[in-house]
Order: sequence, then structure tokens, then C-alpha cells
Amino acid sequence: MDKNNCKFDRSKTRNVALLKWLDKMVSMCAPNRVEWCDGSDEEWERLCGLMVEGGSMIKLNEEKRPNSYLVRSDPRDVARVESRTFICSYGKDDAGPTNNWEEPRKMRAKLKRLFRGCMEGRTMYIVPFCMGPLGSSISQFGIQVTDSPYAVLNMRIMTRMGQEVLDLLGEKDFFVPCLHSVGYPLTEGAEDVPWPCNPEDTYIVHFPEQRTIVSYGSGYGGNALLGKKCLALRIASCMARDNEWMAEHMLILGVESPKGEKTYVAGAFPSACGKTNMAMLIPPESMKGWKVSTVGDDIAWLKPDDNGELRAINPEAGFFGVAPGTSWETNPNAMDSMKANTLFTNVALTEDGDVWWEGLTEKAPSKLTDWKGQEWTPDSPTPAAHPNARFTAPASQCPTIDPEWENPEGVPVAAFIFGGRRMSDIPLVYQSFNWNHGVYIGATLSSETTAAAEGAQGNLRRDPMAMLPFCGYNMGNYFRHWIKMGKSLKEKPRIFHVNWFRKDENGKFMWPGFRDNMRVLRWIVERSTGRGKAHEGPLGWIPNMADLDWSGMDFTEEDWNKLMSINKENLRMQTLRHEELFLQLSEFLPKEMLFERELLVSRL
Ligand code: OXD
Ligand code: MN
Repeated sequence: MDKNNCKFDRSKTRNVALLKWLDKMVSMCAPNRVEWCDGSDEEWERLCGLMVEGGSMIKLNEEKRPNSYLVRSDPRDVARVESRTFICSYGKDDAGPTNNWEEPRKMRAKLKRLFRGCMEGRTMYIVPFCMGPLGSSISQFGIQVTDSPYAVLNMRIMTRMGQEVLDLLGEKDFFVPCLHSVGYPLTEGAEDVPWPCNPEDTYIVHFPEQRTIVSYGSGYGGNALLGKKCLALRIASCMARDNEWMAEHMLILGVESPKGEKTYVAGAFPSACGKTNMAMLIPPESMKGWKVSTVGDDIAWLKPDDNGELRAINPEAGFFGVAPGTSWETNPNAMDSMKANTLFTNVALTEDGDVWWEGLTEKAPSKLTDWKGQEWTPDSPTPAAHPNARFTAPASQCPTIDPEWENPEGVPVAAFIFGGRRMSDIPLVYQSFNWNHGVYIGATLSSETTAAAEGAQGNLRRDPMAMLPFCGYNMGNYFRHWIKMGKSLKEKPRIFHVNWFRKDENGKFMWPGFRDNMRVLRWIVERSTGRGKAHEGPLGWIPNMADLDWSGMDFTEEDWNKLMSINKENLRMQTLRHEELFLQLSEFLPKEMLFERELLVSRL
């Protein structure tokens, strides 16, 4: 059966478990060659050169965008595929009603069939990586084997990757095996394509008990960079549940007051709510002396320290950000981060060999090559960049990167912020009365879908803690874990809800957002450190207008009252609609969530 005689260098590691696993993978996938990745500059250049030569990658103008490249994916492979993402725990209830589940044995059999010979004619890359700073007790090792050089190059930016990781892993340490293939073997000399993939047979599968990940058929983003959503959220959420820490879909930022006091907060926002912008926020000039620094823009791992205080690390080393909408106006720090050494995927190419996307400049260039490689002009009916076009940039290039961002101990977190895109009903900001009430606010987090923005009614997508597609186990038990963590913490972070997206009766945004969000952030920090003022409302603690910093901004009391107003009847209706999610989770829902809902209904 085994027609593969492919050998690989066994001298790189003495980790027996790793060598054994690799033997199995090589024999199953039958690659032509096997290559260890060391994360060196030489390797980066060689792989980029290979991809350019093969027509899969375009080198950008070295003067304008040094050491940066553009990749165009197959138009059928442009985003995460939630419908093909599975949590294959032993029991269906362990995955819970919000995840796709398949019996692990059945799934393994299916995957075995798909992976047999799937790397024929290709190179298998072995990518040792670490999520979190090297040497941190919170960090986790992974080994990804993949036939995608694009995945290797992205992993090099997004994780700590290479020989150093292998050395630290040593002989015994635990690692998460991550198997990835684009599912496009070059059998008997078949010709390659620029972006090999297999959309008909895409599977992104997690085995939470074994802590293993298997991904087939896609080369894009979270489907292929297995350290990110698969390991750092889905598998890590299971590790965290079992070991009393938290793996959350949250940004981490630091706020420094004019006196030099530093407070860190973590924030969960569903997709398309400006999370990367918030992580890199620049305060208004009028708020003299206030500074924001960036620890991470997507994922936080939080662990109580010996004093019962929660400390957070960013498990990633780069940003995999959505390009469209990012500009020198909306996010100059992101723009600076991608000035060089950056991979761009599915953006448009300018005539002088640089990149462009919708929202980058007010006026589009008169001529571009669009994300599909076609000629494009401003009259073209389709966008030049795909709406989910991405930049992959090293976090170290962010001008506001926090000096502590690689501290192996993490940073102390004083507040959690939950935010949704809510056109109506929900005020700018409020604070939970206590931890369990905060968990309830996170559990009922929701955001209006973009399509609904055009409709009158607004279509709410429930996205508990922004974790709906990323929780590796039963969502009801996940809420239970949050409640339990609250009990174990000596110093609990305060919990807040924000909404930057409220509109008035004419459909106009009532809050300017962006830099001015700093005014809200300041109040949040002050509340979390025991200084800020507030009064009690039905939803939670809310600021008086005078409790926010208004320096350099005209905002009338009338507008403030409107922005903070609530319609009790609408909210009561919505609260009863929380029932949908709660019904879905029914038997798994912690009773505390039902109490909180009762309390809220009675306050309304
Ligand atoms: C992401 C996401 O790409 O949340 O970060 O979808
Ligand atoms: Mn995300």
C-alpha cells in the first residue's frame, strides 16, 4: 500500500512523539519531499521566490512596499467556512448545539480517505510554532504540517516559528499536532495551479479530547493558519476550561493616563465591528497626555496569577487584518504596520506595483488589476479588492505596540468590554452590576448583520462573547466556565458593554466613533480603577454626561440623552428574544443566566 519512500531529516529533533507522528503523516500524505521550516530570512526569500516563479505570488514594488507580496486566492476559497468546521468530541453534547459535530471515528475514516496521497507531487513543510511569547508558561506549542508554502509564510508572521521553537519544545513537552493540506495532489505529474484548493471537500476538524486539528481543502486564513482560530481559540478554549484559564476572541490594549498610570483592558467584538481599529486607537489630540498601546487585536489568553489577578497574553505575533476600510484616516497604526514585510491577499494591484482596496483612498485609482487579476476601472461593477481581502503584518511593526506585549507573564487585565453593532436601542456604554451580570451581557451579545442595515427591522445575530464560531465545546458549559472563573478571581475585571453604531431616526450615526471612542475608554478605565462616577440604570451602571471627558468636542446634552436613552418596551421584547439562544442551549444553560434574565426583565 505504502508507495512512499520519502525520507525526512530526523536529526532536527529527539522528540519521539513528534517523530512518530511525522512518520505517520508522511506515509499517509505521500509528499515528494519533506522540509523542516526554520523561520529564517533565507527560508522566507526562498519560499517567496518559489511562489513568484510558480505564478502564485507577485512581488510588490520594493521601493513602495519593501519585502512584500500579493497573493490572489481561488475565488471559491476566500474566507473561513463555518459550515465545514467541526468539533469532533466523543459526545455530541460536548460540542453542543451551536457547533457542527460528527462522530470522531466516522470523521477520522473520512479524513483518512481524503489525506491518503493528498500531497503527491508536493513538498510537505513541517512548521514548529509557538502560540504566545517563547518561554511563557501560558504559551502552547504546535506543529503544523502543510503542503502550502503560503500557509508557511503566513505562519512565520502570525506565530513564533522555526528552529528555536523546536529546541524549546525539547523531547517531552506537549504539542498540538496540526495537519493541513490544500487537497490538490499533483498525481502523475499533473500541472499545478496558482492557488490549489478543494472547495467541494473542505473540512476544518478539531478533536478536542486529543487536542488535534485536521484541515483539508482550503488555503485561506483561519482554515489554513491553524495556530489562529483552530488552536488559539477552539482547542485552547477546551484547554482553558480544563485548566482554569480563558481563551477569548478579544483584543488587548493598554491605556496610559497623563500621570503615567497604565491600565489594560480586553475587548470582544463580533466580526465587522472595528476590532483592529479599536486595538490601535489614537486618542483625540484634545485629550492631552492620554495614550493607547496595542497588545493584540484578535485573541487573548488569560490566566489568574498567584495573587488571583487575571493576566493576559496575545498568543499571536502578527495581524491578519481585513484590508478594505483600512486607511490613513481610519487606522494609521495598521497602515504603518503593513509598510513592509507584509503579505497581501486578494487586494487590488496598482499600476506601479503597490496595493489598493476600497476605502484606502477617497478616489479610486483610474486603473487597477482587481483581486481576480482582471483589469479594473472605477466604472467596473465589482469591487477591486475582495471584501475579505487581508494583510498579514508583523505585530512588532505596529507603532503603538505595547512595551509589555511579549512579557511572558502577560499584562494585568482590569476590564472586559463587549461590543456589538446595534443601530437602535442600545446606549453608547454601560457597566454590569457584577461579574455574573457581565457574563450575561457577554452571553447575549449580538450584532446587526450588514444586510439588515438596509432593512427597517434589523436582523440580530447572536454571537455570545463573539465566540459563536470559535468555542471548542458546549456554549452552555462555556458560560458556566466564565461564572466559575469569576468565583476563583480575587480581583475581578469590571465588565462593560459598548455600542459605537447607534443611529438616529434619519439613519445618521449618533456617535462619531474612532478617536472619540477614547472618551468612553477613559471612563471605562476610571470605573475599573475605582474612580469614575456613574448612576444606576435598568441595563447597568451608566455615566452622566459630565463623567466623560469632552475636551475639544462639541456634543449637546440633548444628543447625549438621545444616545444614552433606552426604550424599555423594545428592550423587554429583545430580552425575551434572548430566549432563542437560551432555548437552543436549554438544558446546558447555567441557572445564573436565567436569574440574570429575570432580573433584567423586572428592571425593565
Ligand atoms: C477574524 C474573524 O478573521 O474573527 O479575525 O473572523
Ligand atoms: Mn477574529
